[in-house]
Amino acid sequence: PSLKHIRNFSIIAHIDHGKSTLADRIIQLCEGLSVRELKEQVLDTMDIERERGITIKAQSVTLDYHADDGNTYQLNFIDTPGHVDFSYEVSRSLYACEGALLVVDAGQGVEAQSVANCYTAIEQGLEVLPVLNKMDLPQADPDKVSQEIEEIIGLDATDACQVSAKSGMGMEALLERLVRDIPPPKGDPEAPLQALIIDSWFDNYLGVVSLVRLFDGTLKKGEKIRLKSTGRDWEAGAIGIFTPKRKETGVLRAGEVGFIVAGIKDIMGAPVGDTIVHTKTADKVERLPGFLKVKPQVYAGMFPISSDDFEDFRDALQKLALNDASLDYEPENSDALGFGFRVGFLGTLHMEIIQERLEREYGLDLLTTAPTVIYEVRMDNGDVLPVSNPSKLPDMANVDELREPICRATILVPQEYVGNVITECVSRRGVQLDMQFLGSQIQLIYELPMAEVVMDFFDRLKSISKGYASLDYSFDRFEAAKLVRLDVLINGDRVDALASIIHRDHAHGRGRLLVEKMKDLIPRQMFDVAIQAAVGGQVVARSTVKALRKNVTAKCYGGDVSRKKKLLEKQKAGKKRMKQVGRVEIPQDAFLAVLKLN
Ligand code: GTP
Repeated sequence: PSLKHIRNFSIIAHIDHGKSTLADRIIQLCEGLSVRELKEQVLDTMDIERERGITIKAQSVTLDYHADDGNTYQLNFIDTPGHVDFSYEVSRSLYACEGALLVVDAGQGVEAQSVANCYTAIEQGLEVLPVLNKMDLPQADPDKVSQEIEEIIGLDATDACQVSAKSGMGMEALLERLVRDIPPPKGDPEAPLQALIIDSWFDNYLGVVSLVRLFDGTLKKGEKIRLKSTGRDWEAGAIGIFTPKRKETGVLRAGEVGFIVAGIKDIMGAPVGDTIVHTKTADKVERLPGFLKVKPQVYAGMFPISSDDFEDFRDALQKLALNDASLDYEPENSDALGFGFRVGFLGTLHMEIIQERLEREYGLDLLTTAPTVIYEVRMDNGDVLPVSNPSKLPDMANVDELREPICRATILVPQEYVGNVITECVSRRGVQLDMQFLGSQIQLIYELPMAEVVMDFFDRLKSISKGYASLDYSFDRFEAAKLVRLDVLINGDRVDALASIIHRDHAHGRGRLLVEKMKDLIPRQMFDVAIQAAVGGQVVARSTVKALRKNVTAKCYGGDVSRKKKLLEKQKAGKKRMKQVGRVEIPQDAFLAVLKLN
């Protein structure tokens, strides 16, 4: 198609507002797949995504739309994830688009994360079309939600599209609006090739597959191409689009989005954000700015249960890091857990997903330590060291100051839950910066220690607001705080992988909760197990797991049969993820106990 008949767009939506359903409906209207095939939500290809119902990696679909004006338009839809942990990938997908649909559940209203992503789209110069979804539901209130979009985001929503992605209502009008209001891409198919890698992943049969957006030029199968970052030349093998199935077309032109396979086997050979050019015109073409490298916010140790898996683990991390620039890792050696990696993530959901992918896709059995944010340590001699591992905190005698990361959080919540949210923020050492009525919601802006936010804050917010509160946050600065390392000793030995950094005022309270929690999580052994929490060598709390008697179910008083069964099943399931520390077997849950103290 000519440029004026191409539309590249993305969908910005909060989780559950109906992005996948809407995308499926668009695909169906363009006859990308039959209705039967659509039973499977086609865009979420990874098993984990389907189970968790969230979209993790950006994907693309190219569709043909026959519009009322008699023209056939090529619609390139670039999918984006909706969770706060993945906003970095959103900006990456938006880079390839001229427009975005802002999908808002007409019964729920605007959510903080969509606001942030919408601002990113507007900043990148995209045309944003508001879409009110779930209009079939009785609680849909389009006037209220339109007003919210105007007040919170500042986008004119008076004639926003009203649709039901589920029933199909309003969908054709939406597609007409899309081709009318979203501008076509700019670019020159005759100019020297300039293409941006939006995503790259490793396929066991094809090698590295890259999703690209062509800004200029035309790329054909068999042509010699060069990657700007490495300077290496390759031959363009398979070239094509996703419909959503992979379809070879042999050619891509300026303005289009599609895939390239160039026989690259080395997983670092086609990094995300790199520029692809023709070898013959390589010197005439600039490298595109690429993407901002995002910094991980939380770090955790990951250790193979069997030390034989260490090399496989390294290999798997390398492959995952290819299309996930936010994943950071370096080898770590723990006294208690042996050889593993210290891995950096965008948030705890990102961490869970990576752990699951490592286990399912790479067959690894891993033990993960409690995640921690990065602290800054200023030494007496003026040096400033980043610390992402509590057990590596230098000797406090030489430390001048410990600093923790502070973030700025925006929370949107209906008025009736504001009290709960404020109480929660205060208990997490939050400082209120602003509070405003916006539409039918209240916007709170807080400064909070990052450590308090990344752990379970989002889940807590949801549960104290019946699911209505939404959250967006970003790193602001490091600030000095009264922090201490809380050590855990098992039968008198300090276990490095159980240490955490916490605020001094919380040390006693959390220490006590922690040993109690761990007492319940560590299975009884043939001998007593003493669990102690200590700060700077001083024990602040202790408890004991009593030695096992003959009958494991003895703990279940009252003879509740189903409870006994549950306990036995739990013990069986827990067996796999155990690590022998000294003489004591410690299960995975105990390493994460520090997360569950609130
Ligand atoms: P993530 O992929 O997790 O980001 O979620 P999503 O935004 O893609 O939401 P999804 O399409 O999975 O829809 C969430 C829920 O809303 C599902 O149960 C859908 O069936 C339902 N849903 C989506 N669109 C509509 C609609 O127009 N009307 C009604 N009644 N329900 C809808």
